[in-house]
Order: sequence, then structure tokens, then C-alpha cells
Amino acid sequence: MTATILPLTQRKGWKALVTHHRTARKWHLRTLFAKRPKRGERMTAEAAGLFLDYSKNRVTGRTVKLLVELAEESGLRDRIDAMFRGDKINLTEDRAVLHVALRAPKDATFLVDGKNVVPEVHAVLDKMAEFAGRVRSGVWTGHTGKRIRNVVNIGIGGSDLGPVMAYEALRHYSERGMTFRFVSNVDGIDFVEATRDLDPAETLFIVSSKTFTTLETMTNAESARDWLLSGLGGDKQAVAKHFVAVSTNAEKVSEFGIDTANMFAFWDWVGGRYSMCSAIGLSTMLAIGPDNFRALLNGFHQMDEHFRTAPFEQNLPVLMALLGIWYNDFFGAQTTAVLPYEQYLKRFPAYLQQMTMESSGKSVTLDGMAVDYDTGAVYWGEPGTNGQHSFYQLIHQGTRLIPCDFIAFGQALAPLGRHHDILMANVFAQSEALAFGLTPEQVKAEGVPDWLVPHRVFEGNRPSNTILAERLTPAVLGALVALYEHSVFTQGAIWNVGSFDQWGVQLGKVLAQRIVPELESKEAPALTHDSSTNSLIRRYRKMKGA
Ligand code: F6P
Repeated sequence: MTATILPLTQRKGWKALVTHHRTARKWHLRTLFAKRPKRGERMTAEAAGLFLDYSKNRVTGRTVKLLVELAEESGLRDRIDAMFRGDKINLTEDRAVLHVALRAPKDATFLVDGKNVVPEVHAVLDKMAEFAGRVRSGVWTGHTGKRIRNVVNIGIGGSDLGPVMAYEALRHYSERGMTFRFVSNVDGIDFVEATRDLDPAETLFIVSSKTFTTLETMTNAESARDWLLSGLGGDKQAVAKHFVAVSTNAEKVSEFGIDTANMFAFWDWVGGRYSMCSAIGLSTMLAIGPDNFRALLNGFHQMDEHFRTAPFEQNLPVLMALLGIWYNDFFGAQTTAVLPYEQYLKRFPAYLQQMTMESSGKSVTLDGMAVDYDTGAVYWGEPGTNGQHSFYQLIHQGTRLIPCDFIAFGQALAPLGRHHDILMANVFAQSEALAFGLTPEQVKAEGVPDWLVPHRVFEGNRPSNTILAERLTPAVLGALVALYEHSVFTQGAIWNVGSFDQWGVQLGKVLAQRIVPELESKEAPALTHDSSTNSLIRRYRKMKGA
């Protein structure tokens, strides 16, 4: 029987942290390092090819111990077991949450409603591999017999961000003879620019949508069908050779006109933002090939196993989650910056935004009570070193506390002269500067005039994690994504929020559906919105000459 878990702020561990924070907020990283010179070697953890240095955080061993106790008291262990057992932990949608099953080996067992889903997962993976092989080798041709050279993924949210991030991240491993594009926005420009230089006869569209009802995706898919048919002389038979679908909704797929034989299935127990290992990864597999895709899945699986089995104090996702809670709930930090020093990871922060903010942007607990503490931080970031010449000023000298995650690699995928050493020097310099800063005395000692000293002082004490891996391989990318997935899960368990629904996106969708006919109608519509919305709609209708 599981013990009753008290509301977060009444938990013993929480109260202990409140008291501990009264002292901790006065610590400076300079002193913490001076007192424990081996801190930088000790406050580290390693798993699945990722090395985490969390020593530049405003914590001591005792802080970590208290945070771990809070995780234990919050029932994290039971929550992890429940997820891996296939319990319906997505309460508001009455669904299991089993993205971990998507990367499980063939002989594993994951049960949903008493049925092992792993064979189905592998059947879809095999079907994807077979299809990818045929397209990549030129056996699968377009309607006119031409080889497929362009792949356009149409999807949005989880049906876009994972695929585009993975494609960019693993471009080094991709088939360079093929072009990959991603269309997500309902702004027609996205589609027009993605297809303007493509030959329809050589283009394959993957319509990726869990529900196959998403307005943006269906609008883009319809425009794609029109574009294709007008480019190929209007023969509707062409659709079968140029469109495949990734969805849980076979009925809608076939209504759209895609043969369900060319549909790659996934399941309602895969959340959109956790779906890049499912058939939603078809474009990734087409780009990097089935073997690399399996290596990616294996990297995810290594981190899943680490998360499931490692003690919390050595568990990378748990540690990162707890540090996030420490800053978010005790120091009042509002955001977290994710700073990959790897150009291939340029879309990684955008991908993480959906994963973290759709999951943790909640203000009621699982039992519907308003929370009296802060939940999800705002995630943002840009690849280094570009950010250094843009927003880092505020991180170094602004008034806000912004914990940073630096991500870097030992080896460049495309070594070029001194570039990589210079890049890495910058990662190490940034975390060092953030932590230790520059005191007024140090500034004065440089001969800086007194009046200028305050401007040149770096307070330091700005926390960061550094995540290092040997090389950006498919497996390492998988481990990295799973690290953040499980970190989000851990935070959700402690905050006691539903990390797997996203009701917050519904209202806007419903209202937009209501407004579309008001914009399109020939007659001036009777508008019943507020005065601002009514007059914006009228102004827009005037602008478009309605
Ligand atoms: O933005 C809301 C959302 O439901 C996301 O969670 C999801 O990833 C996205 O829309 C796309 O949904 P679908 O795959 O059903 O088109």
C-alpha cells in the first residue's frame, strides 16, 4: 500500500528545504568551491554516454540529500514504477504513458490493458525500416516513375518538433542526396517556401498527426495534395505514391485519401511531445537510415534504464529535475536557459520548449487543487557561441537568476582547424565566469577607474550544469532527449501535476474554429465577441477587402 502523500508545501522534505534555503541563499559558489576543492570532481554523475557536472550549482551535499528526500517523500519511486508498468498515469485523458515502450528491445514486455505492446512497436518499426529502405534505394518511385529525392514532413507540435530537431541534430548521418523539409505553420508561407524549388514528381509527403484532425496539419496536407496534383496533371492516383501518413486515426487517414497500407500507426499511450521514437520519427529514419534510427532508440533506452534503476542521488534526470525545483521554487527563478555548444543542436531548445512547457505548464494538482508554489519554468536558448553575443549579458549581469544547461561534445563531427578548441574554451569560460564572476577588488587590480568598477563587476554565483558527451551520435541524442523527458517527469511527480495532458491549448483551437467562418463569410457576420476582438475582426475584413 502506498503511503498518503501530503500536499507539496506540507511535506517534511519541503519544510526542511525552506529552512535550508534561508542559509543556502547566502552562499556563494566561490566559497563553496574554496571550502571543498574537490567539489568539481565529486558533484558529477554519468550515464548512457552523458557526463553531468552539477558542481556549479548553489548546493552542498546536504542540499542534494534534502532534495532527494523530498523526491522520495513525494512518491517518485512509485510514480516511475507506475509509468513503466503501463498504469494510466495520464489521469485526465485516462491513458497510459509509455513512450519508454517505443524504444524497448524486442524481448521486453510493456503492458497496456494487460496486452504486451512491444511486438506491435517492433512491427511498426520493421514496416518503417522496410519503407525507408525502398525510398532510400530508389525502389519506391513517384507516380511518374521518378526516384523520390525530397521528403516533406507535415505536422505540428510533437508531430513536427521532434522530427525537425532530430533531422537537424543528426544531419551529419543523413542521406545527403535527399532533401528534407518540415512544414508546420498554417501560415501559407511555410508550405510555399518549403516546396517552391521541389519537383512534385520527386516529392514524398509524410502527413504526421496523432489525431489527423489538427487544423494546421490538415490545411497544409490539403494544400500539399493540390500542389502535387496540379504539378502532376491532376491524376488522383498520384496521391498513393506521394503521400504516407503517421497517425493513430486510420479512419481520418483514409478519409483524406491516403491508402491505410501506407499508414504508420502509433497509439494513444504515446503523447505528442513524447512521440519522436514512434512512427512520427519516419522522416528521421528516412534521413539517417534504419540502423542509425535503431541506435537512436537504443540511446533513449539506455537512459530509460538508468532513470528506472539508478539511485536518485546518482540519477541524471532526477538530479537535474531537483536542481530545477531548487531554483524554481526556492530561489524564484522563472526560466532555464539551454545552451548547446553544437550547431547541429540548433533546434534542441525549441524542441525542449514543447516538452517542458506543455508538460509542466500547469497550475492545479492531479486532484484539481490550485498549487501554492511555482511549477514549470520557461525554457529557452540558442546555440553557443551565438548567444554569448546576444543575451548572455543579462545572464551575467542582469537582476534575474537564470540557471543554465550547457551541452557540449568532446569531438566535432566536422573538425575544422582550431574551431572546436575555441568552441569548447567558450563553454568552459562561460560556466566559470557565471559561477565565479569578478570581484570589485579584481576589477580594480586591473587598473579600472573607480567610477567604472561597478559596471565591470560580475557578481557570479550564477548556477549552471554542464553536460558533456564524447560525440553527437544518434545514441547520444537519444540519451539526451530521454534525460530531459525523465527530468520533466520527475518534476511533475514532485509538483503533483499532470505532465501528460495539454488542455491549455484547447481554448485557442476552439475559438479559432469559431472565428474562421467570421473571416471567410461574404456577408458581414454578426459578431458577439468582446469589443476588442470584434473590432480586430472588422478591421481585418476591411484589410482583405471583404
Ligand atoms: O499543441 C497541442 C497538440 O495537441 C500537441 O500536444 C501535439 O503535439 C500537437 O498538438 C499536434 O497534434 P497532432 O499530432 O494530433 O496533429
